[in-house]
Amino acid sequence: RRPVTLPQLQQKKQHGDPITMLTAWDYLWARLLDAAGVDVILVGDSLGMVALGYSTTLPVTLEQMIHHARAVRRGVTASFVVCDLPFLSYHESPEQALRSAGQLVKEAEVQAVKMEGASPVVCAATQRLVEAGIPVLGHVGLLPQRVHQLGGLRQQGKTEQAAEAILADAIALAQAGAFALILEHIPSELAQRITAKLEIPTIGIGAGPHCDGQVLVTADVLGLTPQAPPFAPVYADLGTQAIAALQQYCHDVRSRIYPPPQP
Ligand code: KIV
Ligand code: NA
Repeated sequence: RRPVTLPQLQQKKQHGDPITMLTAWDYLWARLLDAAGVDVILVGDSLGMVALGYSTTLPVTLEQMIHHARAVRRGVTASFVVCDLPFLSYHESPEQALRSAGQLVKEAEVQAVKMEGASPVVCAATQRLVEAGIPVLGHVGLLPQRVHQLGGLRQQGKTEQAAEAILADAIALAQAGAFALILEHIPSELAQRITAKLEIPTIGIGAGPHCDGQVLVTADVLGLTPQAPPFAPVYADLGTQAIAALQQYCHDVRSRIYPPPQP
């Protein structure tokens, strides 16, 4: 498989080819996703919940993201790798965002970074990173780094006013130079409006079928998380299968079936 490039991802929108994106948090999962032919691998800060056991993404540090992104990078041959900037690693100023993103690009060799929201500082940071040559993936709708302000991870953009605000956020990020946008947990009509309005691709998660691509948290899709959101389909229940296999191993050891006698 040839490496996936940014221009190719942007062309997919023109050709009506959906972009595939999933999350990975270490070498093991990166290899599997890359082998499956996923277009974009996101080292999402959801790894805080999925791989580190935190109840939100907020405790995740830039150092942890670098550590995980480096492991992911070692498992990827062709997928395009994007890494989340974690909570408070980009909110102070565009310069702070550039330093954080720069570390991810230089130390982990990720190809792009993602920031949540479209506040003035995030739009300015997006512009600053793009000027420096770092592609930025935007993220609007439900913003998990705002969980305490939102009072939970509920669907956003349900009122006309809230929908207009999310549309304005999407336009602002496109104008700031984002190469694509994540639309998280918003009504499908709103996702459809944003997708039609923007030239850059939209990648939905719980945002309906009209986006230019789809992303999900890999652990949710494979039945490996207790807290999967209602919109995440389970493609394989690996959690149940893994527990059954591990129980079998314990049984075999306890009953001296494993290991067999040496030849
Ligand atoms: O951290 C993450 O997994 C994400 C996706 C849900 C888009 O940001
Ligand atoms: Na994230």
